[in-house]
Amino acid sequence: MSTVHVSNHPLIRHKVTMMRDAKTEPKKFRELIREVAILLAYEATADLELKEITVTTPLAQAKGYDLQEIIGLVPVLRAGLGMVEGFWEMMPSAEVWHIGLYRDHKTLEPIQYYNRLPVAPTVDVCLILDPMLATGGSATATAQILKDWGAKHIKYIGIIAAPEGIRRLQEAHPDVEIYLAAIDEHLNENAYIVPGLGDAGDRQFGTG
Ligand code: PRP
Ligand code: URA
Repeated sequence: MSTVHVSNHPLIRHKVTMMRDAKTEPKKFRELIREVAILLAYEATADLELKEITVTTPLAQAKGYDLQEIIGLVPVLRAGLGMVEGFWEMMPSAEVWHIGLYRDHKTLEPIQYYNRLPVAPTVDVCLILDPMLATGGSATATAQILKDWGAKHIKYIGIIAAPEGIRRLQEAHPDVEIYLAAIDEHLNENAYIVPGLGDAGDRQFGTG
């Protein structure tokens, strides 16, 4: 079974609290999601492989490191878009591959509407970015899309998860490690996370 890493970093906890607040406007919400993404990027990439390199300082040669692996950032449209900038700032050589999914209102199952992945995988590690892990349908489907593409190493990075979503993702993809800012209590009758933060897409894009 995959490990679930839940950050207890004070900065993340404070920023997620502000994201939850219904009074937080879209502009501030977008700033917060970017900042939380930067902090989660730090935690979720702690085991990336390095290769040794040498650089020349103004004084001498110094041994140093470069990232060994090619990283693919995979935001799930729409809400995952807000996490890209923060991750990309921390790892500017990463490739970004978008997957578009929305939840069918009746079945709550994800419907794919965008996927332009090339025929063969071009990256070594895929980081799925999606702030909300509710039923787990979207995360599970995205991991499957990436595996069908040929991805070997996949991590899921979210902000708030429900226990139901974590279970579903772990059962379907026990090899996908999960990084989160918070685990909430439960899903309501419309499969929204409670207390959660509402609709993460609407709150970023002002469409609620
Ligand atoms: C949200 C969220 C996830 C999904 C999580 O997207 O960004 O992708 O719901 O729910 P699940 O775990 O039950 O699948 P949504 O379908 O609302 O689309 P949007 O981002 O375009 O608003
Ligand atoms: N998607 C969201 O944006 N929020 C939820 O609580 C559940 C799914």
